[in-house]
Amino acid sequence: MNILAIETSCDETAVALVRAEKNSFRILENLVSSQVKVHAPFGGVVPNLAAREHLKNLPVLLKKTFQTHKITAKNIDLIAVTEGPGLIPALLIGTNAAKALAYAWKKPLVGMHHIAGHIYANFIHPVKSREAGAALPQFNRAKFPILALVVSGGHTQLILMKKHLDYKIVGETLDDAAGEAFDKVAKILGLGYPGGPIVSKIADEFQNSIKIRPFPSPTIRRGIPQGRTFQLPRPMINSNNLDFSFSGLKTAVLYLVRDNPQILKNKKNTAALCAEFQQAVIDVLVSKTLRAAKKYKPKTILLGGGVSANKELRAQLGEAVKKQIPDTRYQIPDTQYSLDNAAMIAISGYFQWKMAKDKKKFSNNWKTLEADAGLLLK
Ligand code: KG4
Ligand code: ZN
Repeated sequence: MNILAIETSCDETAVALVRAEKNSFRILENLVSSQVKVHAPFGGVVPNLAAREHLKNLPVLLKKTFQTHKITAKNIDLIAVTEGPGLIPALLIGTNAAKALAYAWKKPLVGMHHIAGHIYANFIHPVKSREAGAALPQFNRAKFPILALVVSGGHTQLILMKKHLDYKIVGETLDDAAGEAFDKVAKILGLGYPGGPIVSKIADEFQNSIKIRPFPSPTIRRGIPQGRTFQLPRPMINSNNLDFSFSGLKTAVLYLVRDNPQILKNKKNTAALCAEFQQAVIDVLVSKTLRAAKKYKPKTILLGGGVSANKELRAQLGEAVKKQIPDTRYQIPDTQYSLDNAAMIAISGYFQWKMAKDKKKFSNNWKTLEADAGLLLK
């Protein structure tokens, strides 16, 4: 079956065309139009500007997809759209476009949870997916129970799945999301928006320049490791639960820079601070994910969301799993599917549709589906 998917929950306009065949997904199209330049002067996403850009870009992406693949009502079987959570003006553009298409083409429509999309991005084969159009193994060997760490600009959650579409949040951030902390620290350090890619690039360059691999948390607790100028807290790393907190870490950077403004005048110091900040976030994420894994004993650990594009996080979580729980499979999406995209919405939509007993209910969704900024994962 051919699935057309639309994602407009934040500042990326995305359209995908995915063919779900017996035991495989074929990513026929995966278009993402980023609005980074529009929002950068404001240091964050401006909801109404995001909506205006989606309105401008979505028809262009749809038209390109339709023309390239000669799409008519005949060759689409299912439409999937991000229903929430996200910015309501932004979500409304995508959901209304999807509803209009579902009505005009008389097609079933599924409304998807954005975080479910990030989890299901792992069902696109991480290697072959680089070649759009290659046949991809469907289940990608991810075995249930699955423990997913989803880290994005709006979420930091540990989610346990005993079967498809069965989500239990076992830990989450009590304040800022990990990606939000990256963005805010970048702002404090005057590095621009979005913060994650730039902070991690500077941090990785610094690590390479001092030729010392980042240290895991126990080394850091014993004192400032060689080559490190700063030591930041690892919030809640030893707390006896699976929750996170990143707002204090961001404030620690803020106070450090306020009390030592010379840090910002020296590129090496700024880079050392980026490296220490990145390592603090990774230490907490890795430690809590392993704690959750030891408690729930999943067969597979998945990583998803924009922060899962972070090279060090990908590597260090993998190393920790291999060392401490070697029987657990560790699976990460190709970087292009870590960030917001519509292919992940198509694939999660496919499972939503496939697992539903009553498929007729999707035929009415063009009338009833509503964008929901605070949609819960259930
Ligand atoms: O999933 P996503 O694209 O959008 C949301 O659903 O929020 O995630 C965006 C977040 C931003 O906060 C961005 O700074 C962060 O992901 N991010 C990164 C990296 N690339 C993007 N954070 C750390 N390291 C990266 N390489
Ligand atoms: Zn996202």
